[in-house]
Amino acid sequence: MQQFIDSYNFAGKKAIVRVDFNVPLNENFEITDDTRIRAAIPTLKKVLAGGGSLIIMSHLGRPKGVDAKFSLKHIVAHVSECLGVPVKFVADCQKAQAEVAELKPGEALLLENLRYYAEEEGKPRGLAADATDEEKKAAKAAVKESQKEFVKTLASYADCYINDAFGTAHRAHASTALIAKYFPEDKMFGYLMEGEIKAIDNVLKNAQHPFTAIIGGSKVSSKLAVLVNMLDKVDNLIIGGGMGYTFIKAQGGQIGTSLHEDDLMPQALEILAQAK
Ligand code: 3PG
Ligand code: MG
Repeated sequence: MQQFIDSYNFAGKKAIVRVDFNVPLNENFEITDDTRIRAAIPTLKKVLAGGGSLIIMSHLGRPKGVDAKFSLKHIVAHVSECLGVPVKFVADCQKAQAEVAELKPGEALLLENLRYYAEEEGKPRGLAADATDEEKKAAKAAVKESQKEFVKTLASYADCYINDAFGTAHRAHASTALIAKYFPEDKMFGYLMEGEIKAIDNVLKNAQHPFTAIIGGSKVSSKLAVLVNMLDKVDNLIIGGGMGYTFIKAQGGQIGTSLHEDDLMPQALEILAQAK
Protein backbone atom coordinates (compact mmCIF):
# COMPACT_ATOMS: atom_id res chain seq x y z
CA MET A 1 0.00 0.00 0.00
CA GLN A 2 1.30 3.44 -0.90
CA GLN A 3 1.65 5.75 2.07
CA PHE A 4 2.68 9.38 2.15
CA ILE A 5 4.05 11.09 5.20
CA ASP A 6 1.54 13.91 4.86
CA SER A 7 -1.40 11.62 5.47
CA TYR A 8 0.28 9.25 7.93
CA ASN A 9 -0.66 9.47 11.59
CA PHE A 10 2.60 9.43 13.53
CA ALA A 11 0.99 9.89 16.96
CA GLY A 12 2.61 7.50 19.40
CA LYS A 13 4.53 5.79 16.59
CA LYS A 14 8.26 5.11 16.39
CA ALA A 15 9.56 5.92 12.93
CA ILE A 16 12.87 4.57 11.67
CA VAL A 17 14.13 6.96 9.04
CA ARG A 18 16.96 6.23 6.61
CA VAL A 19 18.67 9.48 5.76
CA ASP A 20 21.88 10.20 3.87
CA PHE A 21 24.02 12.05 6.40
CA ASN A 22 27.16 11.12 4.49
CA VAL A 23 28.46 14.67 4.78
CA PRO A 24 32.02 15.85 4.19
CA LEU A 25 34.12 16.36 7.34
CA ASN A 26 37.45 18.18 7.64
CA GLU A 27 40.51 16.87 9.52
CA ASN A 28 38.98 18.09 12.79
CA PHE A 29 35.79 16.17 12.03
CA GLU A 30 33.83 19.35 11.47
CA ILE A 31 31.09 19.33 8.84
CA THR A 32 32.15 21.37 5.81
CA ASP A 33 28.81 21.12 3.98
CA ASP A 34 25.59 20.27 5.82
CA THR A 35 23.29 20.32 2.78
CA ARG A 36 22.32 16.68 3.21
CA ILE A 37 21.44 17.17 6.86
CA ARG A 38 19.31 20.23 6.22
CA ALA A 39 17.60 18.46 3.32
CA ALA A 40 16.20 15.74 5.58
CA ILE A 41 15.04 18.04 8.37
CA PRO A 42 11.47 18.67 7.04
CA THR A 43 10.77 14.94 7.09
CA LEU A 44 12.24 14.50 10.56
CA LYS A 45 10.32 17.48 11.91
CA LYS A 46 7.10 16.17 10.39
CA VAL A 47 7.37 12.96 12.42
CA LEU A 48 8.05 14.82 15.66
CA ALA A 49 5.31 17.38 15.06
CA GLY A 50 2.87 14.55 14.45
CA GLY A 51 3.58 13.08 17.88
CA GLY A 52 5.99 10.40 16.73
CA SER A 53 9.55 9.60 17.77
CA LEU A 54 12.59 9.21 15.56
CA ILE A 55 15.18 6.55 15.06
CA ILE A 56 17.52 8.10 12.51
CA MET A 57 19.97 5.91 10.59
CA SER A 58 22.65 6.63 8.02
CA HIS A 59 26.03 5.64 6.70
CA LEU A 60 29.11 7.87 6.69
CA GLY A 61 31.90 7.19 4.22
CA ARG A 62 33.02 3.72 3.34
CA PRO A 63 34.42 2.17 6.53
CA LYS A 64 35.45 -1.47 6.38
CA GLY A 65 34.45 -2.09 9.98
CA VAL A 66 34.26 -0.07 13.20
CA ASP A 67 36.39 3.02 12.58
CA ALA A 68 36.12 6.19 14.70
CA LYS A 69 37.01 8.32 11.67
CA PHE A 70 33.64 7.44 10.21
CA SER A 71 31.60 7.78 13.39
CA LEU A 72 28.31 9.63 13.17
CA LYS A 73 29.05 10.96 16.66
CA HIS A 74 30.85 13.79 14.84
CA ILE A 75 27.57 15.11 13.51
CA VAL A 76 25.12 14.53 16.39
CA ALA A 77 25.45 18.03 17.80
CA HIS A 78 24.74 19.61 14.44
CA VAL A 79 21.78 17.32 13.75
CA SER A 80 20.36 18.29 17.17
CA GLU A 81 20.79 21.95 16.36
CA CYS A 82 19.10 21.63 12.95
CA LEU A 83 16.26 19.53 14.33
CA GLY A 84 15.72 21.70 17.39
CA VAL A 85 15.65 18.81 19.85
CA PRO A 86 18.51 16.97 21.56
CA VAL A 87 19.36 13.86 19.56
CA LYS A 88 20.58 10.88 21.54
CA PHE A 89 23.40 8.84 20.01
CA VAL A 90 23.49 5.04 20.07
CA ALA A 91 27.00 3.71 19.50
CA ASP A 92 25.97 0.41 17.88
CA CYS A 93 23.12 0.29 15.37
CA GLN A 94 22.41 -3.32 16.27
CA LYS A 95 22.22 -2.73 20.02
CA ALA A 96 19.70 0.08 20.35
CA GLN A 97 16.88 -1.97 21.94
CA ALA A 98 17.10 -0.32 25.37
CA GLU A 99 17.33 3.24 24.03
CA VAL A 100 14.50 2.61 21.58
CA ALA A 101 12.28 1.25 24.35
CA GLU A 102 12.76 4.49 26.30
CA LEU A 103 12.04 6.73 23.34
CA LYS A 104 9.02 9.01 23.92
CA PRO A 105 6.94 10.98 21.44
CA GLY A 106 8.88 14.03 20.30
CA GLU A 107 12.26 12.43 21.02
CA ALA A 108 14.97 11.44 18.57
CA LEU A 109 17.99 9.20 18.46
CA LEU A 110 20.69 8.61 15.88
CA LEU A 111 22.17 5.18 15.31
CA GLU A 112 25.91 4.76 14.72
CA ASN A 113 27.15 4.26 11.14
CA LEU A 114 25.29 1.36 9.51
CA ARG A 115 28.36 0.49 7.46
CA TYR A 116 30.32 -0.56 10.53
CA TYR A 117 28.57 -3.79 9.63
CA ALA A 118 29.25 -5.54 6.33
CA GLU A 119 25.59 -6.56 6.40
CA GLU A 120 24.45 -3.04 5.50
CA GLU A 121 25.96 -3.33 2.03
CA GLY A 122 25.68 -7.12 1.96
CA LYS A 123 29.20 -7.47 0.60
CA PRO A 124 31.83 -9.68 2.23
CA ARG A 125 34.79 -7.99 3.90
CA GLY A 126 38.31 -9.07 4.72
CA LEU A 127 38.58 -11.61 1.92
CA ALA A 128 42.18 -12.56 1.18
CA ALA A 129 43.48 -11.00 -2.03
CA ASP A 130 44.09 -14.49 -3.41
CA ALA A 131 40.68 -15.87 -2.38
CA THR A 132 39.33 -18.46 -4.81
CA ASP A 133 35.99 -18.03 -6.57
CA GLU A 134 34.62 -20.71 -4.26
CA GLU A 135 35.74 -18.78 -1.20
CA LYS A 136 34.29 -15.54 -2.56
CA LYS A 137 31.01 -17.25 -3.25
CA ALA A 138 30.87 -18.75 0.24
CA ALA A 139 31.70 -15.40 1.86
CA LYS A 140 28.99 -13.68 -0.15
CA ALA A 141 26.43 -16.31 0.82
CA ALA A 142 27.44 -15.93 4.48
CA VAL A 143 26.96 -12.16 4.53
CA LYS A 144 23.65 -12.43 2.67
CA GLU A 145 22.54 -14.85 5.37
CA SER A 146 23.67 -12.72 8.32
CA GLN A 147 22.15 -9.70 6.58
CA LYS A 148 18.68 -11.11 7.29
CA GLU A 149 19.22 -10.82 11.04
CA PHE A 150 20.75 -7.34 10.64
CA VAL A 151 17.70 -6.02 8.77
CA LYS A 152 15.31 -7.70 11.17
CA THR A 153 16.96 -6.00 14.14
CA LEU A 154 16.70 -2.55 12.54
CA ALA A 155 13.07 -3.18 11.62
CA SER A 156 12.26 -4.35 15.14
CA TYR A 157 12.93 -0.85 16.51
CA ALA A 158 10.01 0.85 14.79
CA ASP A 159 6.35 0.94 13.82
CA CYS A 160 6.96 2.57 10.46
CA TYR A 161 9.78 3.12 7.99
CA ILE A 162 10.64 6.23 6.01
CA ASN A 163 13.24 6.35 3.29
CA ASP A 164 14.52 9.87 2.77
CA ALA A 165 18.08 8.95 1.78
CA PHE A 166 18.02 10.47 -1.68
CA GLY A 167 21.82 10.47 -1.98
CA THR A 168 21.81 6.72 -1.38
CA ALA A 169 18.77 5.93 -3.51
CA HIS A 170 20.91 4.05 -6.05
CA ARG A 171 22.03 1.49 -3.48
CA ALA A 172 20.04 -1.66 -2.70
CA HIS A 173 21.28 -1.93 0.85
CA ALA A 174 19.78 -3.34 4.05
CA SER A 175 18.52 0.01 5.33
CA THR A 176 17.36 1.39 1.99
CA ALA A 177 15.73 -1.56 0.23
CA LEU A 178 15.58 -4.73 2.30
CA ILE A 179 14.05 -3.22 5.43
CA ALA A 180 10.96 -2.01 3.54
CA LYS A 181 9.43 -5.47 3.39
CA TYR A 182 9.03 -5.47 7.16
CA PHE A 183 6.61 -2.56 6.85
CA PRO A 184 4.10 -3.60 4.17
CA GLU A 185 1.52 -1.03 5.30
CA ASP A 186 3.77 1.51 6.97
CA LYS A 187 6.59 2.39 4.60
CA MET A 188 6.98 5.79 3.00
CA PHE A 189 9.29 8.06 1.13
CA GLY A 190 10.18 11.29 2.90
CA TYR A 191 9.75 14.81 1.55
CA LEU A 192 13.28 14.97 0.15
CA MET A 193 12.83 11.80 -1.87
CA GLU A 194 9.35 12.83 -3.01
CA GLY A 195 10.53 16.29 -4.07
CA GLU A 196 13.51 14.98 -6.02
CA ILE A 197 11.42 12.38 -7.84
CA LYS A 198 8.85 15.01 -8.80
CA ALA A 199 11.53 17.44 -9.92
CA ILE A 200 13.31 15.02 -12.20
CA ASP A 201 10.04 13.67 -13.52
CA ASN A 202 8.97 17.19 -14.41
CA VAL A 203 12.25 18.01 -16.11
CA LEU A 204 12.33 14.79 -18.11
CA LYS A 205 8.71 15.10 -19.25
CA ASN A 206 8.26 18.83 -19.68
CA ALA A 207 11.63 20.27 -20.62
CA GLN A 208 11.76 22.54 -23.65
CA HIS A 209 14.34 21.82 -26.31
CA PRO A 210 17.20 22.35 -26.74
CA PHE A 211 17.55 20.58 -23.42
CA THR A 212 20.97 20.55 -21.76
CA ALA A 213 21.69 18.49 -18.67
CA ILE A 214 24.71 18.96 -16.43
CA ILE A 215 25.63 15.97 -14.36
CA GLY A 216 28.33 15.81 -11.71
CA GLY A 217 29.51 13.60 -8.89
CA SER A 218 32.66 11.69 -8.17
CA LYS A 219 31.94 8.28 -9.61
CA VAL A 220 30.95 7.18 -13.11
CA SER A 221 30.16 3.74 -11.68
CA SER A 222 27.19 4.98 -9.69
CA LYS A 223 25.85 7.18 -12.50
CA LEU A 224 26.23 4.85 -15.45
CA ALA A 225 22.54 4.02 -15.71
CA VAL A 226 21.58 7.69 -15.39
CA LEU A 227 24.01 8.76 -18.08
CA VAL A 228 22.79 6.11 -20.51
CA ASN A 229 19.18 6.89 -19.70
CA MET A 230 19.66 10.62 -20.29
CA LEU A 231 21.28 10.24 -23.70
CA ASP A 232 18.10 9.97 -25.74
CA LYS A 233 16.28 12.64 -23.72
CA VAL A 234 18.73 15.50 -23.85
CA ASP A 235 20.24 17.51 -26.67
CA ASN A 236 23.44 18.19 -24.76
CA LEU A 237 24.95 16.40 -21.82
CA ILE A 238 27.68 18.14 -19.85
CA ILE A 239 29.67 15.90 -17.53
CA GLY A 240 31.45 17.62 -14.67
CA GLY A 241 32.71 16.85 -11.21
CA GLY A 242 35.21 14.15 -10.35
CA MET A 243 33.79 11.70 -12.84
CA GLY A 244 34.80 13.99 -15.69
CA TYR A 245 38.39 12.78 -15.23
CA THR A 246 37.46 9.23 -16.15
CA PHE A 247 36.15 10.55 -19.46
CA ILE A 248 39.25 12.68 -20.03
CA LYS A 249 41.66 9.85 -19.27
CA ALA A 250 39.67 7.42 -21.42
CA GLN A 251 40.25 9.72 -24.37
CA GLY A 252 43.98 9.86 -23.73
CA GLY A 253 44.01 13.06 -21.67
CA GLN A 254 46.35 13.85 -18.79
CA ILE A 255 44.67 14.00 -15.38
CA GLY A 256 47.62 13.87 -12.99
CA THR A 257 46.51 12.32 -9.71
CA SER A 258 42.86 13.31 -10.09
CA LEU A 259 40.11 10.99 -8.99
CA HIS A 260 39.06 8.53 -11.68
CA GLU A 261 37.93 4.97 -12.28
CA ASP A 262 40.18 3.01 -14.65
CA ASP A 263 37.74 0.14 -14.97
CA LEU A 264 34.98 2.47 -16.13
CA MET A 265 36.96 3.91 -19.04
CA PRO A 266 35.55 1.49 -21.64
CA GLN A 267 32.02 2.45 -20.60
CA ALA A 268 32.94 6.14 -20.72
CA LEU A 269 34.08 5.72 -24.33
CA GLU A 270 30.92 3.80 -25.13
CA ILE A 271 28.78 6.63 -23.76
CA LEU A 272 30.70 9.16 -25.83
CA ALA A 273 30.22 7.02 -28.96
CA GLN A 274 26.52 6.60 -28.24
CA ALA A 275 26.13 10.34 -27.70
CA LYS A 276 27.63 11.10 -31.11
C1 3PG B 1 27.25 9.35 -1.66
O1 3PG B 1 27.86 10.18 -0.99
O2 3PG B 1 27.46 9.17 -2.87
C2 3PG B 1 26.16 8.57 -0.99
O3 3PG B 1 26.09 8.86 0.35
C3 3PG B 1 26.35 7.09 -1.22
O4 3PG B 1 27.60 6.68 -0.74
P1 3PG B 1 28.35 5.50 -1.45
O5 3PG B 1 28.69 5.94 -2.84
O6 3PG B 1 29.56 5.24 -0.60
O7 3PG B 1 27.41 4.31 -1.48
MG1 MG C 1 27.14 9.80 -4.55
